[in-house]
Amino acid sequence: MKVTDIHCHLIPYVDDGASSFEEMKRLLKMEHDDGVRRIILTPHFRPEVFETSPRKIKSYYELTKKAAKEVGIRTYLGCEFYRYSGLLENLKEKKGKTMHGSKYVLIEFAPQDLFQTIRNFLYELLANGYIPILAHVERYLECRDRERVQELADMGVRIQVNAGALLGKQGIRIKQYCWKLIEEDLIDFIASDAHDLKRRKPNLGKIIRKMEKKKGKAYVKRIFEENPDMILKKLDNRRNADETNQRNEARAEL
Ligand SMILES: [Fe+2]
Repeated sequence: MKVTDIHCHLIPYVDDGASSFEEMKRLLKMEHDDGVRRIILTPHFRPEVFETSPRKIKSYYELTKKAAKEVGIRTYLGCEFYRYSGLLENLKEKKGKTMHGSKYVLIEFAPQDLFQTIRNFLYELLANGYIPILAHVERYLECRDRERVQELADMGVRIQVNAGALLGKQGIRIKQYCWKLIEEDLIDFIASDAHDLKRRKPNLGKIIRKMEKKKGKAYVKRIFEENPDMILKKLDNRRNADETNQRNEARAEL
């Protein structure tokens, strides 16, 4: 299986992720030990906080790509955008980086953002032909409600959860909530969001072992290989209406 980590900060010197080449190499080795064979590197972009030039990102990306190849991992370039008012214009002008040049856009919000803010922002992206991936859904206070996550998923938003949350790093309540979202089939991607060797390490190996026991190999393959394939092949993996209806019917029977 080509396990894919679609969200992490391993490129050195471009955001608050890897802080040296050495750290980047060790993080890549950890990803490989976890079974990861493809990584979409997603440096932050946030006005006034992380505004590293595309040129600098590209040059450090190339070095990261080379180091990854040496350990047996293929890399792709993406970006994690923090929501801001000019994002859509920047994407249209190709100033912002989508995920590997696809229509998928990894986007994060402030933890305290209102649900309406989140929904409206995501709606704008969808209306303009993008496929938003909501980064670490568990982080937003107003998204700790299954029905709201369902609403976003039904709009066509793809939902990503951090492996750490499923492993209990944010406490038992968030862990339980995230597993509930998995049970209800509301999660499209599980990613490490790895930043460093201390607090936010690569961790997909642990979650894959757990997930295989709880959900089976087919589910693991879908989350870690098939859904990422849709990004890398630049295909739209939005659920169609039939799938949404089937899921709603299955839920109604519970
Ligand atoms: Fe991130």
